[in-house]
Amino acid sequence: MEFHHVADPVTKAQADVVAFCVFGDPGSDPAFKTWNAVLKGGLADAAQAESFEGKPQQTLTFLTGGAVPAKRIIAVGAGPRADFNVASLRDLAATAAAASNKVGARSVVLALPSTGAGREPLAIQFVVEGVVEGGYRFTRYLTSDDAKKPSTIGRFGIATDTKGKKPTAAQAKVVKAAIDRGAAVAMAVCRARDLINEPAATMTPTALAAEAQAIAKRHATVTVKVLGPAECAELGMGMFLAVGKGSDEEPRFIHMTYKPKKKATKRIAIIGKGITFDSGGYSLKPSASMEDMKVDMSGAAAVISAMDAIATLGTTHEIHAIAACCENMVSGHAYRLGDVLTSMDGTTVEINNTDAEGRLTLGDAITYTRTKVEPDEMYDFATLTGACMVALGPYTAGVMSDNEGLAKGWLQAAERSGEDMWRLPLLPRLREQLKSSIADMRNTGDRFGGAITAGLFLKTFARDTPWVHVDIAGPASVSTARPSQPRGGTGFAVATLVEHLVPR
Ligand code: BES
Ligand code: MN
Ligand code: ZN
Repeated sequence: MEFHHVADPVTKAQADVVAFCVFGDPGSDPAFKTWNAVLKGGLADAAQAESFEGKPQQTLTFLTGGAVPAKRIIAVGAGPRADFNVASLRDLAATAAAASNKVGARSVVLALPSTGAGREPLAIQFVVEGVVEGGYRFTRYLTSDDAKKPSTIGRFGIATDTKGKKPTAAQAKVVKAAIDRGAAVAMAVCRARDLINEPAATMTPTALAAEAQAIAKRHATVTVKVLGPAECAELGMGMFLAVGKGSDEEPRFIHMTYKPKKKATKRIAIIGKGITFDSGGYSLKPSASMEDMKVDMSGAAAVISAMDAIATLGTTHEIHAIAACCENMVSGHAYRLGDVLTSMDGTTVEINNTDAEGRLTLGDAITYTRTKVEPDEMYDFATLTGACMVALGPYTAGVMSDNEGLAKGWLQAAERSGEDMWRLPLLPRLREQLKSSIADMRNTGDRFGGAITAGLFLKTFARDTPWVHVDIAGPASVSTARPSQPRGGTGFAVATLVEHLVPR
């Protein structure tokens, strides 16, 4: 699909579909009134007949019959103005695209609603993301042609209010940069979704490593190092290796590096949990909880895919993406309850639950990052605890850090990119839950504060390196779709990673 800027008035736009947003009651929406006047009252009649009330996800498709150059007008319900923020445009644009696709439109123009001073580039970016991400489907294993049918839309125009003036070269450049940024983010989000949705039988640690290598191959600025079990043993990654021991699939430790052409401003590491399947190990999960556990590599998928967008767009920072990938299985080789593991930094850990495996693999990944990469800042992304979903619900990530500045900066980026994240306190008092009588600590606390004790466990390994932990157990995948997000893997955190790491 090709995106372009439309500076002419939308009522004159030449396209199969012109779409516009309606904020609540159509009778009092200015855009609706304008269109209704152009269409000689027909639009209001149609709205009445079809009970179109401008609610989110409602659409009204109207054949213009030659009254304007466009063949059809689609009014897209946006809900009350007060609820609108720029990120709402992802779902609105996805809804407009889906309704246009339904009538077989090849060209679409969407009128961008006014978003306030300086917000237009972000708005354009989100429209591109919404259209592409809303059209995403995981079709690899569907055999009917109908299910695999691609979108009919070839050209998608974004109309901005230029007050009748032709945009200057500088304005056109800003619009193009916004479109390119949206396309790069959307591509990375869809790639992450593909990695997450692929069954664990094929999306193995080795397959994830191959994915990282394929991305590195496409960018001169990206290199990748993949460590196998022998190299990890050499480095003393006793926790990471123990988790993977029960699987016939070999573990892979992935380290991607993006180096800017000029001298880097900062060195930043992003670390992803990469459990390709989490059976729970000997602390076996019940069937219903295990069903979806191919998503347990969503953190790895996010950081690996984000590197693609980061390299495409370019940034002033040196970025390291790290993913410790393995499978948590049951077998005669699997790690046991009561085992004592020695981590890469020498800390010993007694295992009281083999299902708390993510913190073990991440602990060693954090030590590797802290000692080998020595970053100025590090961020980890992990489908770490069901407790985080109990605390915040299924759509919000838990953010934990003892570094105020870093946590605030990250949360601001999340706010701008429209991904729901909320800070949880790393209460030191809860550390008592991790006490062991035979080792330096144990890997699991009790039921209450489970997201926080997991964060405190990781903090042990982060030590004094500025660090933020993001628990994405909920939002990494959804069972209830939204227009820009079909059910399954979401690619959560990719948008905020790009927002945070690539200056506009
Ligand atoms: N991968 C799970 C967490 C998870 C749960 C992710 C639901 C996505 C959706 C993690 O490894 C896990 O099993 N956590 C345990 C921790 C417990 C044993 C302390 C949990 O949440 O029950
Ligand atoms: Mn687990
Ligand atoms: Zn897990």
